Amino acid sequence: MLIKATNVWRTYGLGETAVHALRGIVLTVSQGEFIALLGHSGSGKSSLLHLLGAMDVPTRGEVIFKGEDIGKMNQRQLADLRLRCIGFIFQTFNLIPSLNALENVEIPMKLAGMKRKAAKEKAEYLLEQVHLADRSKHLPSQLSGGQRQRVAIARALANDPDLILADEPTGNLDSENGDLIVDLLLKLHQGGRTIVMVTHNPELTRDVSRIVYMRDGQLLAKAG
Ligand SMILES: Nc1ncnc2c1ncn2[C@@H]1O[C@H](COP(=O)(O)OP(=O)(O)OP(=O)(O)O)[C@@H](O)[C@H]1O
Ligand SMILES: [Mg+2]
Repeated sequence: MLIKATNVWRTYGLGETAVHALRGIVLTVSQGEFIALLGHSGSGKSSLLHLLGAMDVPTRGEVIFKGEDIGKMNQRQLADLRLRCIGFIFQTFNLIPSLNALENVEIPMKLAGMKRKAAKEKAEYLLEQVHLADRSKHLPSQLSGGQRQRVAIARALANDPDLILADEPTGNLDSENGDLIVDLLLKLHQGGRTIVMVTHNPELTRDVSRIVYMRDGQLLAKAG
């Protein structure tokens, strides 16, 4: 088991303005799963993804990542866990605009202390995997949305993460490019990667290993 979330609550704000975004979530993520997280806007999907990715800690309850309680980690430990164990893919790509595709992919490896040459070679390899070898010198502004998201996928893979988290990775793409991105994620899943993907589009969940529905901060059915 990779992650175990037990009775997880996440409350934003205090007193009368408090929002209970997550209300008693119980979820386990096993190695090699591809989980699709579906639910209406505001149901808590991103909040849950942030906790699974150690970008946030629960208000109540526990999130155990590879045996470690993320609620007990300090900021530095959380940052280290994110860098080494988790790859993020966002709806808005979140590439660094002043860096070209190759440099964007190199960053997590350099932050993790990998040697310059090794990082460059691996970044080139990863860009090949997402069919962008010929765009490595392009800035994000010189790439299409689908290409930007493929750079983001290459970046997410840089440190060989245990877990890939994708928050509506196709949300800013047309259906053709969206399908391409999901196909890439499915290939990664077939290669043994563990993935949790938030999506609004049930059509994109056809080949995933498990679908989890959220409503009002809770999981609708027993979700393992
Ligand atoms: N930083 C925050 N401060 C206060 N409230 C927040 C914060 N982030 C989220 N919320 C609230 O928590 C609830 C869940 O938000 P969340 O972003 O997790 O939903 P979501 O399912 O990802 O929605 P969407 O599909 O629109 O992205 C919402 O009511 C939202 O307004
Ligand atoms: Mg969201």
